Order: sequence, then structure tokens, then C-alpha cells
Amino acid sequence: MKRARATSRDWRTRARTRLGRLWAEMPRPDTTSEIELEELDGARIVVLPGVFNGIRHHTGAFLARTLDAALVPAEGSVLDLGTGSGVVALFAARWAKRVVATDINPEAARCARINALAHHLEGVIETRTGDLFAPVREERFALILFNPPYFRGVPASPADQALRSPDTFERFLAELPRHLEPGGRALVVLSPDTDREDSLSTAPRLSVTQLRAHRILDKTLRVFAVRPR
Ligand SMILES: C[S@@+](CC[C@H](N)C(=O)[O-])C[C@H]1O[C@@H](n2cnc3c(N)ncnc32)[C@H](O)[C@@H]1O
Repeated sequence: MKRARATSRDWRTRARTRLGRLWAEMPRPDTTSEIELEELDGARIVVLPGVFNGIRHHTGAFLARTLDAALVPAEGSVLDLGTGSGVVALFAARWAKRVVATDINPEAARCARINALAHHLEGVIETRTGDLFAPVREERFALILFNPPYFRGVPASPADQALRSPDTFERFLAELPRHLEPGGRALVVLSPDTDREDSLSTAPRLSVTQLRAHRILDKTLRVFAVRPR
């Protein structure tokens, strides 16, 4: 009896792992040529062609859903770096009075602006275009949110910047302390498919703690809280 239960559990584990691998390897477009309409916890979100769909990819949805009144300061400003469709900025705006949403891809900044307008949040969410912290110059934030490009490499197109970058995450970690208010922190979402956890764990002058983990098939997405030591 015990043996039969163990066998069926092994079978289920193997099937889940196999399905997880298939899911990860399944060819699927990172962006599409269509305007897409997604839904996350009742919020409708437009995703323009060439803009990363963080709901379909789960990482953006997970970071957005991690946010709550305890994590998002009502008074200080929030920066959503690499905002994509703006999904994380929209969720942050449930608690924050001011959210700055930036992206290196002008189409992403435009998409985030469209979503801010659609949700009547243009008075809260301000969108800007540019590389990393360049659009915010010397500004400091109480909370910085980042779902970084997954892999190291040279992007083949503006849309591909969502997935590949030679050094964006490392530059982010190096520049982060200069953009946090005293007591502020960053929340970063990482997928195990990415090669970013090494950079995070070896970043000098930063303290890193895992805040949330979320299992999807055979992979675990993690949100880390990062603050200057
Ligand atoms: C993985 S996507 C995340 C998008 C969105 N935050 C989400 O969670 O759905 C990464 C985003 O960062 C942007 N990005 C990549 N490199 C950047 C850089 N150097 N400066 C600003 N944004 C960048 C990409 O264009 C893309 O929109």
C-alpha cells in the first residue's frame, strides 16, 4: 500500500517536472504584433505590440500582487523601473500617492501611460522614457520596483530589451543606494531561469532578503527586498 502511494507520488512529481520543462521550453512570443487586453485581479491592462507582457510571463503579475499597504508607503514616492505595460505601477498606485514609471523602450512608456489614463491614474502615475535612473536624475524614492531583463546578452530589438541586457541589472544594483530615501528599499522579482541571482547575492554594500516565493509548475519566482547595508 505504502509502495503504491510512493509510486504514484513519484509519477506525479516526474510528470510535473516534465510539464514544467515543456512549459519553459514552449516557443511563445515574448511580445506580439497585436494589441492585447489582459486582466489581473479585476484590472484590465492593455499591452501594446513590442511591449513585454508581464501578466502572461507571470513575473510582472507576481511582483504586482506582492504589493500591499505594508510594503507601499502612502507618503513617499515609488519608482517602477522598466515599467513595461505599467502593471506594477498600476498596483503600486493603489496605495502610493505618486508613482514614477520609466522604461528604456518608448513603446513601453506609452503603454504604461495608456493604462494610467484608462484607470484614471494619470494624476498619480507619471511615465518617463530612458535608461535606468537617467530619467529620474538625482531623485530619491521610498520604494523602487524592478522586474529586470532576464538574461545577459545583447538585445536584438527594442522589445528584446525586456529579456536581454549586457549589464542593466548590475548597473541597477550599483546605482540603487543613490536613489533610495533613508530607510527605503527596492523589491526585485527574479525567475530561476534567469542568471541574475548571483549578481544579487554578491552585490557589495547591499543587504538582500527573500520576501515572497511563488511556485509555478517546476519553477519558483522570488521577490527580494534590497536595501543599502
Ligand atoms: C522583464 S520586463 C518587465 C516589465 C514590467 N515591469 C512587468 O513586470 O511586466 C523588463 C522591462 O525593463 C525594460 N528595460 C530593459 N532595460 C532597461 C534599462 N536599461 N532602463 C530602463 N528600462 C529597461 C524593458 O524595456 C522592459 O519593459
